[in-house]
Amino acid sequence: MNILVTGGAGYIGSHTVVELVEAGHDVVVVDNLVNSSKKSLDRVARIVNKKIAFYEADIRDREKMEKVFSENQFDCCIHFAGLKAVGESVAFPWEYYDNNINGTLVLLDVLRKNGCKNIIFSSSATVYGTPAVVPITEDCPKGQCTNPYGQTKSMLEQIMMDMQKADPEWNVVILRYFNPIGAHKSGTIGESPNGIPNNLMPYITQVAVGKLKELGIFGNDYDTPDGTGVRDYIHVVDLANGHVKALKAIENKCGLAVYNLGTGHGYSVLDIVKAFEEANGIKLPYVIKPRRPGDIAVCYSDPSKAERELDWKAQYDITDMCRDSWRWQKQNPNGYDD
Ligand code: NAD
Ligand code: UFG
Repeated sequence: MNILVTGGAGYIGSHTVVELVEAGHDVVVVDNLVNSSKKSLDRVARIVNKKIAFYEADIRDREKMEKVFSENQFDCCIHFAGLKAVGESVAFPWEYYDNNINGTLVLLDVLRKNGCKNIIFSSSATVYGTPAVVPITEDCPKGQCTNPYGQTKSMLEQIMMDMQKADPEWNVVILRYFNPIGAHKSGTIGESPNGIPNNLMPYITQVAVGKLKELGIFGNDYDTPDGTGVRDYIHVVDLANGHVKALKAIENKCGLAVYNLGTGHGYSVLDIVKAFEEANGIKLPYVIKPRRPGDIAVCYSDPSKAERELDWKAQYDITDMCRDSWRWQKQNPNGYDD
């Protein structure tokens, strides 16, 4: 298939481009590089031994998006482009609503005007809020999002569901990611956050590489086996492959389909520290800090719907994830800034 990948220079997008090209698809990336580097695509090109078509464009820029469509014909769009930092979204809600909502509205309009009514959308487990039950199935009610970032995901899901209902020619696959970590096994592409990382694994790898002094663990008094927060960490390459499998649903004219992409296993922060230490033979200094506002105690998926319907199942375990995250960080201490 000929696939438009928005946000394809980013962390999950770049890994997905690798898997798409390796599965025989043609890819065009649109990214404004607001949170990524063009170098990621140069490295993808090295991995797959093929140049990646790239437009530096903001998805809110209708003229540029029209130009992309006038020069290409797409069978499907995989839509990663968006701002994703929870704390930043609380400080800059307008910017988040403008980028994520307006950007997607322009994209959807340009897609339908050009006859491409197939989209795979990056959503998040955050839409479940504090989950009603764990493991979380797709029919769990959506919860109250505690920040504007989460609201944009929830609203965008609704917008696409409404559009699909009004026009059944649309095929919309909503993928709710759990916690992506890890990196491509080559160690040449990975997560390269700006400034001090918000998320657990990039924080850990930056402590391990000596850029940060110690890990702060946000709370050890949750109602979990060791008191620290439990999440469903998933290898980014497994996540990337979930998108390749989701193209089958598009081909089969799925209408609307929603899938969790997780492993189904919950690991606590202390489990991750231990797994990282064991996988890499590194001691990680940490201190217990107060809970982080907005965090929930436990969140992990029931991924069986994706296995049943998409024939997708995570292949990598927590040791692989820790080893691959570390290989990327060790080989690129400053991410793509090296
Ligand atoms: P990322 O920031 O690495 O990638 C997003 C990409 O989108 C970046 O390359 C950025 O430059 C680009 N972008 C942002 N706004 C744009 C715009 N207006 N026009 C064009 N390009 C734009 O983030 P990621 O971790 O790869 O996440 C990809 C998607 O998955 C995002 O939509 C994110 O919200 C979602 N998601 C991520 C996680 C996670 O933990 N990483 C979890 C759930 C969902
Ligand atoms: N944590 C720490 N110290 C840190 C960072 C995180 O103890 O320095 C803890 C958190 O309290 C939490 C766990 O590690 O218990 C995971 O935290 P992350 O920030 O890595 O991930 P979250 O589960 O909070 O959120 C992530 C993304 C969201 C997304 C969600 C579900 O940041 O955007 O996963 O996909 F919605």
